Amino acid sequence: MPKKQNRTKLPKDKFFEKIEALGEALTFDDVRLKSGYSEVMPDDVNLESKFSRNILLKIPIVSAAMDTVTEHKMAIEIAKLGGLGIIHKNLTPEMQVQEVCKVKYYLNGLIDKPICVNHNETIEAILKMREKREYGFHTFPVINDNGEIVGIITRNDFDFCDNHSVRAWEIMTKSVITADSKTSLEEVYKIMTQKKKKALPLVDKKGKVDGMYVLKDVKRVLLKNPSGYNLDKKGQLRVGAAIGVNDFDRIEKLIGKHIDVAVIDTAHADTKSVISMLKKIKSYCKIDVVVGNVSELESAKRLADAGADGIKVGQGPGSICTTRVIAGIGSPQVSAVYKCSKVADEYGIPICADGGLKNSGDIPIAIGAGASSVMMGGMLAGTKESPGEVVFKEGRQWKSYRGMGSIGAMETNKGSRERYGQVATGKSELIAEGVEGLKAYKGELKEVIFQYLGGLKRGMGYVGAEDIESLRRKADFMKITSAGKDESHPHDILITKEPPNYQVGN
Ligand code: IMP
Repeated sequence: MPKKQNRTKLPKDKFFEKIEALGEALTFDDVRLKSGYSEVMPDDVNLESKFSRNILLKIPIVSAAMDTVTEHKMAIEIAKLGGLGIIHKNLTPEMQVQEVCKVKYYLNGLIDKPICVNHNETIEAILKMREKREYGFHTFPVINDNGEIVGIITRNDFDFCDNHSVRAWEIMTKSVITADSKTSLEEVYKIMTQKKKKALPLVDKKGKVDGMYVLKDVKRVLLKNPSGYNLDKKGQLRVGAAIGVNDFDRIEKLIGKHIDVAVIDTAHADTKSVISMLKKIKSYCKIDVVVGNVSELESAKRLADAGADGIKVGQGPGSICTTRVIAGIGSPQVSAVYKCSKVADEYGIPICADGGLKNSGDIPIAIGAGASSVMMGGMLAGTKESPGEVVFKEGRQWKSYRGMGSIGAMETNKGSRERYGQVATGKSELIAEGVEGLKAYKGELKEVIFQYLGGLKRGMGYVGAEDIESLRRKADFMKITSAGKDESHPHDILITKEPPNYQVGN
């Protein structure tokens, strides 16, 4: 049973307790944060947070596991910006693994299992293998029949080799420079620059290859100011992957490829099958498992008791979601986050507020209500890095954005049908819980995230919170009326130029 701690009372408790006593629940547009005395300058705040027990974030933004939001391009870019991408599961396990690998190998701090070639292989055979497996690299440690390293072949050796029938040992560099398996990245860089080597195999005591570093990757990790990147212990970008409830085969394949966190991604996580899947994964491996979605305290408690390392909150707030109107369920998001965050505080696990954010100001509200991170679909869809092509319509550029429970997504994908518990349903009998549409093209993710973080930092400045945890603890709320909401937006003006962080109608 996971350990529990007593939760200390927080300023926002009184506000939410009163709302709950009335049997009401609130969402983003119903509330604002109270401003207060502050010594915090927005540019000095610390945005580090957690997605799950052990998975850190440099910025508290996670991209949604949706087929129009997160594949490798989004996951790479958002991790470079300090956040985290969750690769969606409307892909075969093999395709999802490939997407994960593209993120993981983007920054190869350490190549865990470098591809080695046997000293007796011909250059022709090596080139054929390289082409067949679509390797983009030309550096191969060469091993003898006992598996010990005897040399290395690099791009130069291939470029200057006219006779492809020669064997690896005939053209390889025999005096290969190696380092011990435990050599640090800094030490590796020193050896590479001193010896002018672009690749450095690591070897164990028996002379067997136990990893390899490549100069350009080492430089990228060490020198290209990756301080803002969200990196794992090996210097590779962090990435998560969505899995379904009956998808153990998928998790086995993904773990082999070193995902940082698995997300059991369902529309309703407070179920027997989700809880048994969670327990099964936790007893199988040490990976962090985030589970969602739920929107009630008791549901969050059951997931925490079953061993969840993070809980994803949100049933029906999504911009493409029709769950609330189709099924009539679901707590408005700010109250849902608050309720579930009580469990998070007791069990020491983070909450991710998933869906329903429209403006940057919704980020400090979600965190103030108790989340440690926010998951975005619509706010990241339509960027250059989201999957899909830009289309032209009515003189503007657009990209598709659709619910994972939309007919389009469910008709073609088991992953989507599974999220909405309709795996065995025939196509004509699907019950949609989402819509399909277009989002205006937003350009590069980094510009978009810059604006979102700008809003979050300003919110923290107004509240006087120097970091994410103090925003969670210090935040207090007030409810606003529809007149208050109108007043919050620009009014009595014909806007002739929209700023980059505000769209009329949001
Ligand atoms: P958004 O950021 O408001 O667009 O919401 C994105 C979130 O909505 C996702 O992270 C999912 O949790 C959720 N979601 C995705 N597809 C659907 C759907 O078809 N119906 C209901 N919720 C969905």
